[in-house]
Amino acid sequence: MDIAEVLTLADQLIFAKTGKHLDYVQDAILRGTLEDATYTQIAQELYSSPSHVRNVGSNLWKTLSKGLKKNITKNNFRAVLEKANFYNYQLAIVENVTAENITVNHNVNICSEKVRSPKTPQNPEPTAKHPRIDLGDAPEISTFFDRTSELTTLENWISSRTRLITILGLSGIGKTALTLELIPQIQQEFDCIIWRSLHNAPPLASLQTDIIKFLSQQQETELPDLINYLRSHRCLIILDDVQTIFSSQQLAGNYKPGYENYGAFFKQIAESCHNSCIILISWEKPREIAALESQPKSCQTLQLNGLGEAAREIFTEKGLAESENWSELIELYRGNPLWLNTAAAAIQDLFNGNISEFLSYDSLVLGDLEYLLHQHFQRLSDSEKRVLSWLANQNKPVEISQKPALLELSPSEFLKAIESLRRRLLIEKVQKGDRTLFTLQRAIAEYLNS
Ligand SMILES: Nc1ncnc2c1ncn2[C@@H]1O[C@H](COP(=O)(O)OP(=O)(O)O)[C@@H](O)[C@H]1O
Ligand SMILES: [Mg+2]
Repeated sequence: MDIAEVLTLADQLIFAKTGKHLDYVQDAILRGTLEDATYTQIAQELYSSPSHVRNVGSNLWKTLSKGLKKNITKNNFRAVLEKANFYNYQLAIVENVTAENITVNHNVNICSEKVRSPKTPQNPEPTAKHPRIDLGDAPEISTFFDRTSELTTLENWISSRTRLITILGLSGIGKTALTLELIPQIQQEFDCIIWRSLHNAPPLASLQTDIIKFLSQQQETELPDLINYLRSHRCLIILDDVQTIFSSQQLAGNYKPGYENYGAFFKQIAESCHNSCIILISWEKPREIAALESQPKSCQTLQLNGLGEAAREIFTEKGLAESENWSELIELYRGNPLWLNTAAAAIQDLFNGNISEFLSYDSLVLGDLEYLLHQHFQRLSDSEKRVLSWLANQNKPVEISQKPALLELSPSEFLKAIESLRRRLLIEKVQKGDRTLFTLQRAIAEYLNS
C-alpha cells in the first residue's frame, strides 16, 4: 500500500466518521508517520506547534481506530497497514458507511464501488481536494487575457507557503480579475477559500467573526481566534479593496481611526507560524508591508502593471479598426484594461471607431476615466497634491534635486510625498544611466492640468 492509497483510505474513513475530509494537518501527520517523522518534525514542516499537532494526531488515531475497529496509534499505524490487505479495509469503510447511513458526497462513491466491483478492487486515485469556497460578493469576470507570468509568480509564492501576498495597482488595472483567475489554479492546495471585499470598511472584529463562521461551518458557539483556524487548516483569505481602511488626505498606507488593528493583524499573519495565506488587494501598500518584505517567506508584493500587447485583444473584441494604432493607445493608457475599455467605447461612440481622429484631439481623459482618477486624487495629502501638480507641468522626467522652492515643502516633506506617491503607483520612475528621474503618465498629467 503506497502513501496515496493510505491517504485515500484514511480520507474515506474520516469522511465516513465525521462527514469531513482529511484536513491539511491530518494529511501531514499521516504522511509524516509513514515516513517515521516525529510530531516535532511534522510540526516544524507545518510551521505549527508540536502540542497542536499532537492533539490533532491523538484525535485522528481515535477516529481511525473506531473506523477500522482496531487500536491504532502513531507507533503501530504503519505496521497495521502493512499487515493488512487494502481491499479489506475498503470493505470495512463500505460497511461503516452503509451502517451509519452517511451519504458520501465526493468523487469516490464507496457504496456503488462495492456493487460495481466486489472482487476486483481498483486502486483509487488520491482523493482530489475539494476546498470549501465562499467568494462572497466577488464580481464575475467574463473575459480574461494573458497575465501568464503574474499567475505563475503568484502560484509559486503560494506553493512556497508565502503567508501574506499584496497585489497593488491603480483601479482598473486588473487586480480583482487576476486574483479570481488564480483561484482555480491553486484551489487544490487549500482546505478553505474565502473572499471578502472591504468596500464598506468593516471593523476588523466583524470581518474576523464573518471569516471564522465560514471556516468553522458555524458549528461552534464559542469562536476561537482566527489564527487557530489558520494553523489547523490551510486557508486562503482574499481581502479586496483594502484601500478603504486607509485615511484620505494623508500619506499612503495610514489606517483610518479605529482601523489600526488591521496593521497588527496583517503583521501577525505574516510573522506567526501557520500554513495559510492571505492575499490583500489594494491601491495602497499597508505601512507594515515594506518592513515585512525583507522576509520573502512571510511576505511578497506584486505590483500589477498593464496588460501590454495582450490588450490588443480588447480592441479586437470591441471591433476597433486601424490596428496599426492599437500599440500607441495601449502605451498611452499603460495597458490598463478598464481605461482601454473606456477609451474603446468612447472611440466607437464619438468617432465611429476611428482611432486617428480620437488621437488628433490629444485628450485621453474621457467619461468614466475622469471619475476613476478623481477617486485616486481625493485620497491624496496636500503635500502629494503639490508634488503632483509640479510634475504635471514638467515636459520631461525630472530628478528629485530639481525640486523648486515654490513647492513650499521641506526636503523631508518632499521626499515623503514622493515616496507615498510611489506607494500609490501614481508616479513613474525612469532610469537614465545612473540618474533616477520621475514623471507622470500622460492620462494622469492631463487629468491634473484640466
Ligand atoms: N487580463 C484581463 N483581460 C481582460 N480584461 C481584463 C483583464 N483584467 C481586467 N480586465 C477587465 O478590466 C476591468 C477592471 O478589472 P478589475 O480586475 O476590476 O480591476 P481592479 O481590481 O484592479 O480595479 C474589468 O472589467 C475586467 O474584466
Ligand atoms: Mg478590484
